[in-house]
Amino acid sequence: MASTPSLAADAQNLVRGKMLYEKYCVTCHGPQGRGDGAVQFAPPVADLTSSDVLMKPDSRLLKSIHEGRPNTVMDAWKSKLSDEAIRDILAYVLTFPR
Ligand code: HEC
Repeated sequence: MASTPSLAADAQNLVRGKMLYEKYCVTCHGPQGRGDGAVQFAPPVADLTSSDVLMKPDSRLLKSIHEGRPNTVMDAWKSKLSDEAIRDILAYVLTFPR
């Protein structure tokens, strides 16, 4: 398979993305990405279904997950998750109802 960082995901990618999301991201981002997880923070957790987030290109969002977001509790995940895992998670996140 080509190594282009495309988010074109098959069912298997989405299953893996869901599993990882529910393991690592759901406590803050909530089950449907709305930022209504069990724990609240300031600055607040991003609503992953909001146009603020969705208007950013995929490459930008991948970078946010890789590197984290400065001065927020959004951590860098690159040491914990492979590039492929991060792509699978984002592909899953993009399936949330808006
Ligand atoms: C400790 C709580 C926490 C966890 C765990 C967490 N996030 Fe976040 N996330 C945040 C916060 C807070 C923000 C808002 C950051 C900001 O204001 O820029 C955010 C923002 C984001 C954004 C938007 C970034 C942008 O550029 O606008 C994405 C995408 C995201 N998170 C994905 C994830 C994924 C995927 C995971 C799991 C691997 C995850 N987050 C785990 C707290 C968390």
